[in-house]
Amino acid sequence: MIKRITLLTICFICTLFVFNACQVEQDIELKEAKLNLPATAHTYAGLPAQFKKLEFFNNNGFIAGIPDSDFQNHFIENPLNPEITDDGATLGRVLFYDAKLSINNSISCASCHNQSLAFADGLSSSKGFGGKRTPRNAMAIVNIVTNRNLFWDSREQSAKGLILKPIQNHIEMGMESLADLETKIASTDYYPELFKKAYNSEQVTSEKIADAMAQFLCSMVSADSKFDQGFADDFNNFSTLEMVGKDLFFSERTQCSGCHAGANFSAPDQPGGEYGSSGGENRRGTANIGLDLVSKDKGLENGKFRIPSLRNIALTAPYMHDGRFENLTAVIEHYDKGIQAHPELDDKFVSNTGEPVRMNLNSLEKQALIAFLNTLTDESFITDQRFSNPFQD
Ligand code: HEC
Ligand code: HEC
Repeated sequence: MIKRITLLTICFICTLFVFNACQVEQDIELKEAKLNLPATAHTYAGLPAQFKKLEFFNNNGFIAGIPDSDFQNHFIENPLNPEITDDGATLGRVLFYDAKLSINNSISCASCHNQSLAFADGLSSSKGFGGKRTPRNAMAIVNIVTNRNLFWDSREQSAKGLILKPIQNHIEMGMESLADLETKIASTDYYPELFKKAYNSEQVTSEKIADAMAQFLCSMVSADSKFDQGFADDFNNFSTLEMVGKDLFFSERTQCSGCHAGANFSAPDQPGGEYGSSGGENRRGTANIGLDLVSKDKGLENGKFRIPSLRNIALTAPYMHDGRFENLTAVIEHYDKGIQAHPELDDKFVSNTGEPVRMNLNSLEKQALIAFLNTLTDESFITDQRFSNPFQD
């Protein structure tokens, strides 16, 4: 008898749990459906200009080893970018955060590009709509308005061209038919109005979806890190350690700034530049940094991968195209003494004897480099309402 009562009690408690769980789930769904946009649209239109006005990329001698001429035009906007309007980017923001864009309503762009992590996801490879893993590490999204080489292998030339790929991707979001996507979006209660505001017509097309999301992506500008603030003021805001790190970063000895260059600390990827896409060589802002003797993932070719921006780098672990390094210490250890020989190893890392370089950094110098990398974090970018989830209250 006692047994039965205990059993009944247990069942009752279980039922309560299950019931509660359902309620919680329902609440989440209701909340997700609640769109919370400001009465007057946020301002997105002028944002890229804030980034382009940063001028240190042309500052004579600041970037060791690279002539200024390579940086001219570096920050001319990508001609393939859409024109940004406040209503267009607002629509893009809603789409970016909406799990309805995936086949089973489980994954939005933001699932793998999380604002608090500078739009990376903290995983070495990401989970898509069916729990399958992406072959590469989710990239942070930053200042792509000026970038003509997107993805780890630089295979895409513009934000607009890129958008529909993850939506259709079998692993990422799985929405293979764009016609189905259009129908699904058109049948929600909130999109027709947003399309009307952005494009003067309620009609939903995949072309507009791509355009609006590209507007949003291109408006995501990070230009207010400790480094940016210091640049205007002789780095008076830097600690001694950060100063040592900065000097190392821009030194011939480490060559960091020879690749992570310019205002975006990324490849000088414009035509004519050392890593550019003209002049016979088509490198598309990529380099082989000697991660492996034999590259499993070839990247663009021969183990060459996009030279990524280092803005907000402290927030976007794990690192490299496959997320192999858990923290910045491991990255610095690689550059210091881990670079492996490879026929395509970048010249910067090949010593006079033909061996991969060894930087022989001491532990203080390593700490200093990390302290410097930490100054590239932009708190205002990761808390900016304009880029936040509009489905939250
Ligand atoms: C399941 C995880 C996942 C989802 C969902 C996802 N992405 Fe990504 N994203 C990635 C990965 C992984 C990469 C790197 C892929 C590669 O280089 O091959 C990436 C790369 C990117 C890049 C390139 C950044 C750069 O600097 O080159 C952009 C932009 C981007 N994603 C935007 C989006 C948008 C917009 C959506 C929604 C339509 C989206 N992503 C959905 C995982 C995801
Ligand atoms: C020859 C060009 C080159 C030089 C020089 C170089 N890097 Fe890199 N860096 C790259 C490339 C390419 C990648 C991406 C490689 C990959 O994922 O396969 C990268 C990746 C990184 C990453 C990880 C980025 C991420 O989002 O995962 C960090 C951090 C970094 N580099 C810091 C440095 C520092 C610090 C130095 C100087 C000690 C340096 N780099 C020198 C080309 C370079």
